[in-house]
Amino acid sequence: MSGATHRFIAALVESVDVGPLDLKGKTNAVQAYEVTGLKEGATGRGLTGIHAPMIGRDAQLAHLRELFGIARAGQGRVASVLGEPGIGKSRLLAEFRASVEGEDSSVRWIEGRCLSYGKTLPYHLVLDVVRSVIGVSSSASEPEVREALQRVMRELLGDGWAEPYAYLGHLLSLKLDPEAQARLSALDREAIKRYVASLLQIVRAISTRGPVVFVFEDLHWADAASTDALLMLMPLAADLPLLSILSSRRDRDAVGWRLVSGARDLFGDALTEIRLDPLSSDQARSLVANLLEIESLPQKTRDLILSKAEGNPFFVEEVIRMLIDRGAIRREGNSWIATASVVGVEIPDTLQGLLLERIDRLPKESRRTLRVASVIGRQFGVTILERLLEVPTT
Ligand SMILES: Nc1ncnc2c1ncn2[C@@H]1O[C@H](COP(=O)(O)OP(=O)(O)OP(=O)(O)O)[C@@H](O)[C@H]1O
Ligand SMILES: [Mg+2]
Repeated sequence: MSGATHRFIAALVESVDVGPLDLKGKTNAVQAYEVTGLKEGATGRGLTGIHAPMIGRDAQLAHLRELFGIARAGQGRVASVLGEPGIGKSRLLAEFRASVEGEDSSVRWIEGRCLSYGKTLPYHLVLDVVRSVIGVSSSASEPEVREALQRVMRELLGDGWAEPYAYLGHLLSLKLDPEAQARLSALDREAIKRYVASLLQIVRAISTRGPVVFVFEDLHWADAASTDALLMLMPLAADLPLLSILSSRRDRDAVGWRLVSGARDLFGDALTEIRLDPLSSDQARSLVANLLEIESLPQKTRDLILSKAEGNPFFVEEVIRMLIDRGAIRREGNSWIATASVVGVEIPDTLQGLLLERIDRLPKESRRTLRVASVIGRQFGVTILERLLEVPTT
C-alpha cells in the first residue's frame, strides 16, 4: 500500500516498510508498505503511546452504572448511546465495561459490532453477536468456530443443544453434518424466528449465571436482517438481568435507526437515551493539556487545535496526530516541544471524509447556505450572507 493509505490504517495492521518502489506509470519512486497481518483488538483510535483519562462523561457513566444495577436486580433495561462520529460513544462503553467488570466478575459482556460496509451483508451484526457469545474472533477458521459453537451450546443448554446448534451453525454458514442439516429444511421463511429463538435460548442460559451486558455497536451501519432479528429479540429478553446498549451515530435514515426508534416504542420509560454532546471548551482544553504536556506550545496553536476540534475528542486527537506527523511538535524525553512549523495547521485528511459525510446529510437549503458562506470566507457578517442567498443560484 502507499504511504497515504498507510497513514490511515497503520494503527490497524502490521506492516513493513518496503522502501521506495519504481512503478510503471509513475515518474518518481513510490514509498510503499507491505501488510503482514491485522493487529489484534486495535480500534484505530487514539494516539500511540499517549493516554488521557476520559473527560466530562461522569454523569453518563454513572447513569449506565445505575441502569446496570437495576438490570442486575432482574429488571431488564435498555439504553441508547447516541452522538456524532468521534464524540466518545465507544470510549464511554469501554470505561463502563472496565468499571463493571472490575466490580463484578460474574458479569458477561456480549458485544456485536457493525461493519462500515455491512449494510448489505445480511445478519452480519447478529453473526458478530454469536461470535462474541462463543468467544471466537471474526478471523477464526471454520473448524474453530464449529468446535466453539458446539462446546458452548452443550455447556449452556445441556440436552437441548442440538437444535439451536443447527440454526446458529447455519447462520454462521458452517458445514454441518447430515443430522444437523436435516433440521434445516424449509428454513428460509422461518429462519429469522429460529435464529431469534436460538439466540434467546442462549442469552437466557447465560443470564442464569450472572448479569449480562448486551452491546450493539455502530448501529448506523447495521443490516436490515440483523435489525429485524434484534427487534424481535429485545422485548423477549426484557425480564432477564440484562442491560442492552445500542450505540449509534444520529443517522435517522439508517436501517439500524429502526432499532433505536423501535426501542423507544417497545420500552417507553424503561429506555434511557444517553446523548453525548461535544465537550465544553474547558473540557476540550483539559483534554489537549492531558494529551500534550507541552510548555512551549504557543497559545495560538492551542487555540487552533481547540477551534478545529469543536469539542470532538476524535478531532482533537487527529489534529494532534497531524501536528506530530508533520513534525510541528515532537517528543523530547518526557515532554513535547513545538517546532517552528507549528503555524499553518490545516484540517487533517482523516477528518475531511467525516466532515463531508456530515455536510452531505444536511438538508438541501442548509447545504446551499454553507456553500455560499464558504465562498465568502471564514468570517463574515450575516447580512452579507443573507444578501448573497437572495441571489438565485443556477
Ligand atoms: N470524554 C473523553 N475524554 C478523553 N478522550 C476521549 C473522550 N471521548 C472520546 N475520547 C477519545 O476520542 C477518540 C474517539 O472516541 P470514540 O472512538 O469513542 O468515538 P465514537 O463516538 O465511538 O465514534 P464513532 O461514531 O466513529 O464510532 C478515542 O480515541 C477516545 O479514546
Ligand atoms: Mg465508536
